[in-house]
Amino acid sequence: MATMESLIGLVNKIQRACTVLGDHGGQGMSLWEALPSVAVVGGQSSGKSSVLESIVGRDFLPRGSGIVTRRPLVLQLHKTASGAEYAEFLHAPKRRFTDFAAVRKEISDETDRITGKTKQISNIPIHLSIYSPNVVNLTLIDLPGLTKVAVEGQSDSIVEDIENMVRSYVEKPNCIILAITPANQDIATSDAIKLAREVDPSGERTFGVLTKLDLMDKGTNATEVLEGRAYRLQHPWVGIVNRSQADINKNVDMIVARRKEREYFETSPDYGHLASRMGSEYLAKLLSQHLELVIRQRIPSIIAMINKTIDELNAELDRIGRPIAADGGAQLYMILELCRAFDRVFKEHLD
Ligand code: GDP
Ligand code: NA
Ligand code: MG
Repeated sequence: MATMESLIGLVNKIQRACTVLGDHGGQGMSLWEALPSVAVVGGQSSGKSSVLESIVGRDFLPRGSGIVTRRPLVLQLHKTASGAEYAEFLHAPKRRFTDFAAVRKEISDETDRITGKTKQISNIPIHLSIYSPNVVNLTLIDLPGLTKVAVEGQSDSIVEDIENMVRSYVEKPNCIILAITPANQDIATSDAIKLAREVDPSGERTFGVLTKLDLMDKGTNATEVLEGRAYRLQHPWVGIVNRSQADINKNVDMIVARRKEREYFETSPDYGHLASRMGSEYLAKLLSQHLELVIRQRIPSIIAMINKTIDELNAELDRIGRPIAADGGAQLYMILELCRAFDRVFKEHLD
């Protein structure tokens, strides 16, 4: 019997296959939507991209003040048994990125390719896969930040446009929401919590993440929130200290940043007692465990969805006359074979 880790790996591969080949889910819920993913939600500059980077343990996302993330980024992490780390974009499948600074540049360039060097947004996602022995198998989605007002160069509808784009991801029942709230703002005004509460009233798929703990006013702390007394969520709040803009400018690397974050919690008079449940590494572990649980619960419906996909692929192959050439038809055969393989593995997990 395959391990849970390899099972999540398989789910990742199906998601990737669906992305590459176009989704053949037909009407109703597609296969992609049946599988869990994790999206970040929060106000502009609340630290969304920084949190995602910490989870991955790599510097590769554009970050900074103002509207930096202007297209959704669908990021698939694939845990490999060994070997070098590399990244691949769906829009440039033949190019293997081993330099993560180049990945960051490609995300920026690819954003500009659609939106120009403006402050406008586009809901066309960028798909990126990272292969590494040092990641957990996860699909993460980075999204533009929620705003309250349009700035120079943005259309009047931008506030609503961003909210609608973000909602279209987080309203899916299989989307796990990372609601990012900066600790140096009033949590009652958190856009992330407001939207999360709207699409997930029971809070079963919402994880509250409190960033910028290091930037709180002296003499105040966030224990009320982190201990679940100020705003109760089903899952415990996780406090985070990401790199500051000064750290980014100084190129403080991820390993140093993680160590500093750990030290921050361990030596903090306010949060020392919570240290084992704080920080980016803990958040990554928490998410991975939650994902396992969700996938286990979903195995029967995933099998049903895969079988539906197999039927639809067969129907489509019949319609186009089952070509053998290396064209669209051959791709359909490939995904069909993949689905059959997944079906076998998932069924094993039912026993
Ligand atoms: P996003 O717009 O929500 O994706 O936010 P970014 O990740 O781009 O971060 C915005 C700015 O806030 C950057 O300059 C980060 O360095 C800074 N930042 C994010 N999280 C923290 C944190 O926990 N502490 C400090 N000091 N700065 C942070
Ligand atoms: Na930002
Ligand atoms: Mg961002």
